[in-house]
Amino acid sequence: MGTYEDVFRASTEDPESFWLTASEAIDWDVTPRRALDSSGAPFYRWFPDGRLNVCFNALDRHVEAGRGGQPALVYDSPVTDTRRTYTYGQLKDEVAAFAGALAQLGVGRGDRVVIYMPMVPEAAVAMLACARIGAVHSVVFGGFAPHELALRIDDATPKVVVSASCGIEGKRVIAYKPLLDRAIELAVHKPEKRVILQRPQEPAALGPDDLDWAGLVAAAPPADCVPVAATDPLYILYTSGTTGKPKGVVRDCGGYAVALLWSMGAVYDVGPGETMFTGSDVGWVVGHSYIVYAPLLAGATTVLYEGKPVGTPDAGQFWRVAADYRVKTMFTAPTAFRAIRKEDPKGALTAGYDLSHLRYLFLAGERLDPETYHWASALLGVPVIDHWWQTETGWPIVANPVGIEAAPVKPGSPTRPLPGWDVRVLDPSGEPAPAGVDGAIVVKLPLPPGALPTLWNDDDRYIASYLSAYDGYYLTGDSGHIDEEGYVFVMGRTDDVINVAGHRLSTGSMEEALAAHPDVAECAVIGVADELKGQIPRGFVVLKAGSDREPGEVEAELVQLVRERIGAVAALKDVTVVAALPKTRSGKILRKTMRGIADGHDEPIPSTVDDPGVIETLRPVLRSTCPHSVNGP
Ligand code: COA
Ligand code: AMP
Repeated sequence: MGTYEDVFRASTEDPESFWLTASEAIDWDVTPRRALDSSGAPFYRWFPDGRLNVCFNALDRHVEAGRGGQPALVYDSPVTDTRRTYTYGQLKDEVAAFAGALAQLGVGRGDRVVIYMPMVPEAAVAMLACARIGAVHSVVFGGFAPHELALRIDDATPKVVVSASCGIEGKRVIAYKPLLDRAIELAVHKPEKRVILQRPQEPAALGPDDLDWAGLVAAAPPADCVPVAATDPLYILYTSGTTGKPKGVVRDCGGYAVALLWSMGAVYDVGPGETMFTGSDVGWVVGHSYIVYAPLLAGATTVLYEGKPVGTPDAGQFWRVAADYRVKTMFTAPTAFRAIRKEDPKGALTAGYDLSHLRYLFLAGERLDPETYHWASALLGVPVIDHWWQTETGWPIVANPVGIEAAPVKPGSPTRPLPGWDVRVLDPSGEPAPAGVDGAIVVKLPLPPGALPTLWNDDDRYIASYLSAYDGYYLTGDSGHIDEEGYVFVMGRTDDVINVAGHRLSTGSMEEALAAHPDVAECAVIGVADELKGQIPRGFVVLKAGSDREPGEVEAELVQLVRERIGAVAALKDVTVVAALPKTRSGKILRKTMRGIADGHDEPIPSTVDDPGVIETLRPVLRSTCPHSVNGP
């Protein structure tokens, strides 16, 4: 491939020919003659005249090439004591069967299907089945509560929802069906049908609009691949923004397939017949890209793991998976490694597992703290690669591309921008920040293939959220700097998004939930540093004048309220009733100042503060681990 510099230069000097060359690795029904259509700028379209089917590229073509007997997907579920391997031939048949079932329900090209499922192979089957018939899937993470699911149903307006009777969270069985029923009750849009995968751990009672997965598949003829435009949407994935309304990130078919396949070789160094294990969830972008689509596009074997890094039943499960399936590349969030390290600080549980096939550990989803980096490096003796990206981008922006050329690592930095990404740091006036100086991290337009072309049904919000801050640049929402050697350092979000255990959450939506309580006059939720989860949310509320409620009682109700509205994954367990919140003279709550104090920094008090006394009263509360800490059920 050449050196990193060569490849990077080729991607910036002539993106058209760089990406057209990359596109040759995909099987097209109509081969694109052009890479980029800029005529609608700032809306860009990749491979505008190409036609393809992503499912064909992920499955059928490997079978046609004679590799139908090779393992495509391994389902490893310590929580149900199940291991099942699907060859490419078997997975193709399962997907074609479910695609046929969806087609029989009237689902066709462009129709949306919401998938609300635990980590079972049928979740990947449902995604690929949608891709097969040109339908657009929208997977909703199982840890979200009915209210969040309803918001996504109303935005995506699916014809069908696919779900399962239950999920398994550690040792708990969580019934999904009542959550789905409640979400549909709350939603304005009513999907025509729901398909339910019955699981033996807790089967669900089915209503008149519910269809049993197995029965439906048995009665439908398999469906073939439908070629679609490269610019057609493959999926919508909702992600947290500043407000309570999630953003529907749109992913196209052609650009995504080209970029993912390219990244498998260049970034992750995984090729046909090799195994990648991504410890995440299909509900997140990491799961979409590197559990499902990219490994299959590359003809590799992917491991779909239903369990946790710890406690299911122990902190040695990642090593067991790596050994059993000869994993070459492992990918997870740093928090998973912090959890393992907490349980097994010396890594004793690696003993007895043959990790000789493991070549790389990739970590993303949140900042990789140097301590975790050093611990994992020493334990595994393989390169530990921090890389930075987002739901919006679909694949990494900054990484150490070991498939091209591994660069020396600087702990704390995910290394340098990948080919295709023209990353800059700008100061508030839009001028380039000098090397080493923090500013807003932006990417010069056009974004490479695979990144979002827009937000679902909301071009205006796409522009307002990402393109309006700096003309000609995509705003990542992260701040940081680039050093003299071109290494990027990502320091944190500039908006109200927080990262809890690698899960992206909006403090804005938690505030909306708190504000819905009848006794709350105003509130603030901030993300504070946490040793295990990276960040955890803490809530502060002021009660309405005249409220005679016991603070402790209201706090417990508020914790429960957020759990019910957003889901357990919000992990808001500390809410404190306070007398007042610090504000500027114009009434803006000083969340950044609160966060700084809570994290133990010597936080300067802004000159615009209305009443400095409020901060002083709050300081000990912010500094303490919350005195009214309340645990959810
Ligand atoms: N369905 C239902 N509930 C879920 C859920 C799901 N799919 N996923 C998480 N939850 C629940 C958890 O059970 C927990 O509930 P609790 O408050 O009753 O204990 C709550 O949501 C918070 O979950 P989490 O923040 O994940 O905490 P945890 O203690 O269960 O696990 C880690 C902590 C670090 C082990 C886990 O978050 C992890 O492995 N993270 C790294 C991998 C990852 O998924 N990254 C995402 C993107 S790469
Ligand atoms: P998500 O959209 O869930 O993938 O979350 C994206 C956000 O997670 C980014 O905008 C960053 O704030 C954070 N993030 C992801 N990877 C990294 C990383 N390697 N280093 C620092 N922050 C990261």
